[in-house]
Amino acid sequence: MTDRELYEIALGMLPRSYAPFSKFRVGAALLTKDGKVYTGVNVENSSFGGTICAERTAFVKAVSEGDKEFSKVAIASSGGEAWPCGICRQFMKEFCDDDFVIITGNDAESIRTYTLAELLPEGFRL
Ligand code: THU
Repeated sequence: MTDRELYEIALGMLPRSYAPFSKFRVGAALLTKDGKVYTGVNVENSSFGGTICAERTAFVKAVSEGDKEFSKVAIASSGGEAWPCGICRQFMKEFCDDDFVIITGNDAESIRTYTLAELLPEGFRL
């Protein structure tokens, strides 16, 4: 699965985003080491703190289905490049190595990739 293919899957999730408050739609596509893809969207809530980001939706779906080994995640949004929030970076740190790849971009032509170590240096794990 190329970075671009994974990004396009994330992009395809935008219509399923539930973002009536921010209007900022986010889709994620998470690739397991054995080639499975789990998708996610942001799911907002009237109690704003209850909102779940697209990336965490994808991770929770994967872990609850028994997958815990991941190679990369793509994130697409309705408002340009989406950057994983601090909680999502920490969530990734729980399951992913420093070389885990995070793909973002304005569109499929301009995707950029980062490692988890770049976006969360000295990340915490018990
Ligand atoms: N959001 C995500 O789902 N992922 C990101 O990478 C950035 C932020 C969501 C949370 C909230 O629903 C909306 O975007 C605005 O913060």
